Order: sequence, then C-alpha cells, then structure tokens
Amino acid sequence: MKKQGNLFNFFAVAAPGLTTFCADELVQYGLLTGKTSDAIEPGGVAFRGDRLALYRANLHLRTASRILVRLGEFHAENFDQLRSRAASLGWEQYLRAGQPVDLRVTCHKSRLYHTGAVVERIAAAIGVRLGGAPPVKKTDDESGEDDAQLIVVRLFRDACTISVDASGALLHRRGYRLATARAPLRETLAAGLLLASGWNASAERPSPLIDPFCGSGAIPIEAALMALNIAPGRNRRFAFMEWPDFDRELWRGLLDEADARAQARRAHLAEQLTIYGSDRDAGAIASAQANAERAGVDALVRFACHAVSAIEPPAEPGFVVTNPPYGQRVRGGADLRNLYAQFGNVLRARCPGWRVAFLSSDRTLLSQTALRLDTDLTFINGGIKVIVARGFVDGG
Ligand SMILES: C[S@@+](CC[C@H](N)C(=O)[O-])C[C@H]1O[C@@H](n2cnc3c(N)ncnc32)[C@H](O)[C@@H]1O
Repeated sequence: MKKQGNLFNFFAVAAPGLTTFCADELVQYGLLTGKTSDAIEPGGVAFRGDRLALYRANLHLRTASRILVRLGEFHAENFDQLRSRAASLGWEQYLRAGQPVDLRVTCHKSRLYHTGAVVERIAAAIGVRLGGAPPVKKTDDESGEDDAQLIVVRLFRDACTISVDASGALLHRRGYRLATARAPLRETLAAGLLLASGWNASAERPSPLIDPFCGSGAIPIEAALMALNIAPGRNRRFAFMEWPDFDRELWRGLLDEADARAQARRAHLAEQLTIYGSDRDAGAIASAQANAERAGVDALVRFACHAVSAIEPPAEPGFVVTNPPYGQRVRGGADLRNLYAQFGNVLRARCPGWRVAFLSSDRTLLSQTALRLDTDLTFINGGIKVIVARGFVDGG
C-alpha cells in the first residue's frame, strides 16, 4: 500500500510491563525502525508514521491499550498562552463542529495546575477553530459507544502536550468477549503473557499450548488469534472512523490485506494447532466457548470442564500459559496454597520438559509450586501488581 502523505507523531499507550512487547509488535508491523529502547517512554511507545500506520497500529497491536496522535506540544505558563497556542492547532482534522469532547487533563509541576480551568481554556481554543466551543462530557473507556472524542492534555513543567485518541474503546475490547467468568484477564495482558512465555505463534507448526485455569478463555483465544494471524481489531470500531478525514478505502484495503494473510495461515495450519483450555467451572467454560465462537477460533481451541488435576496434555512438549486464582482476585486462603502445590505436582507429573508462564500476585503461592521460576517481569492486573512467573518443568 502506498505512503499516505503527511507524517504524524503517535504514541501507543501500554500498561506497565507491556511496553517492550508493544515496541516489538510495532517493529514486526514495520511501524518502528531503529532501537526500540529509544522509543519506549513511561506509559507507552512513541512512533511516527502516516495515516496508514495509524490504522495499522489500531488494527494489529495486541498489547497496546490505545493509540494517541500527538496534535501539539508547546510551552504554557499562563492561560492566555494556553488558549492561543491551543487555538493554533489543527482541531478540524479530528472534530466536527458541535461534536462533544472529553478533555482528560493532568497537571504536574506546572504553573497551570487547575485542571478544570485548563479544560475550559482548551474547549474555548477548539471553539476558535470550529466556530463554537464543543460540549464537554466524559467518555467510557470500555464501551466506546459515546460520540465524544477523547483528548488527552498533559502539563508537565509548563510543557503542554495535547493528543487525540484514535482508538475509542480501549484496545483490549476486541469485540469477542461478551461473556466473562470471575476475575477476567484483559486481552492485552493475555497477549503479553503469551509473548513473555516464549511460545512461538508464527512457527510453521506452533507447539501445543494449554491453559488449565482458562476462565472465560482470554489466553487460549488470544493464542489462537496470534497463531492464525487474525488482526485483534478486525471486528470493532475505532474513534478515527468518525474523523472528517477518515479514508474508508484505505481502511478497506488494510482489512482485505489482513484477511488474506489470516486465510492463508488458517489453510496452512488446518489441523496442526493444539490449544486447550480447561476450568473446573462449567459456567466459565460455556463463556469461553461462546467467546471463541465470536472470535472465529472455536474450531481450533478445545475447551473442557475439569479440575487442573485432570489435565491430559499431549505427549509432545509444549507451553502451559495460565492465570490461576490468586488472593485478592478469587477468594482463597489455605485452599489456594494447596492449589498451587497441586499445580506444581501436576506439571511435574504430566508436563515434564514443558515451559510454563503464569501470573500470580503472591510469592508465597509461587513457592508452593516448587518450580524454578524467573520472576523479574511484572504486570498490573485489575489494579494489582502481578508477577509473570516463567520456568521450565523438570520431571517429577
Ligand atoms: C483468575 S481466573 C482465570 C481468568 C481467565 N484468565 C479469564 O480470562 O477469564 C481463575 C480460574 O481458575 C478456575 N479454577 C479454580 N480452581 C481450579 C481448579 N482446581 N481446577 C481448574 N480450574 C480452577 C476458576 O474457576 C477461575 O475461572
């Protein structure tokens, strides 16, 4: 596809622990060149590109939470400067007259610190360009059903950065997960855990993968989407689709390209993919099955309702990637310690030579597994810091 003219500065917002994976994904899709460490900033990854790059990032990134377009950066130490400099930005590229905006403002170490007053001045500045200040309202990050355009304004040491959100609902909302079990894992974290595990989704024939605590199925479904090369944003809407300059044809072309790649991969993998999800809760398995159908991967992921003690992994070594219950998220106590000890025993008995990657908030629980685990990487799940425990299963 040919280059689309103007270049923009973008920022892929990523949750703690996911930024390096997000940078690797940007490289994989040709959206980032050079050293990834130079592009990683607190809270995400900066990259530069045209409109096609923006559409591509939204469609393909599995670990980013949202994509922002950096509209302007300027010095502002008083409200006059803020208003006049904000009024010089090209708002009309992103907003229609009268369209509501959600102005999300943070101020740190700056002379302008009253966020409400900053909202007022920016709304007035937009009004200068669009012939009337827009209504200001709050958007919902989860549903994305609002008509309001999210604008992110950050003041730090009197430097004002204004960004326009291109995604709408957060990118973990792929559109397939309507049914959830208890303590669901965000799809972005499930994808990050899979990437951290070392499982090679794009291998000629990916190794077997099992999730014995699969709940509503985020990990097995994300694994299947990755292995089949299905774009995570294939079936959802994005904020950029409402922008006055939205290029429908360009988007259509990108979808066709993504679909062709996914079809070729599906034909290649056919029966060769072994992804299992199991959970002892029948309701969770029903949700997982329904979610897999909506994601278009139900023919490739096998779900079963049974306890972890009943798993029957294939003989060929593979990967156990999972999100067992842990303290604050699913009720427990002594039972949880027993469950982790049992998990370790089951792995040693049934999965010798396999690799394992799982999340847990609690080092005491991890030690119960008696597995040798690397614990240097952490994510945040549901506001709780969780350890990404990774290791190799020795025989029992
Ligand atoms: C943290 S949740 C997993 C959430 C899942 N990743 C998702 O996205 O929905 C933990 C799951 O472990 C299941 N579970 C608890 N004890 C189990 C056991 N002994 N055997 C199998 N599953 C168990 C629970 O039913 C629950 O669905």
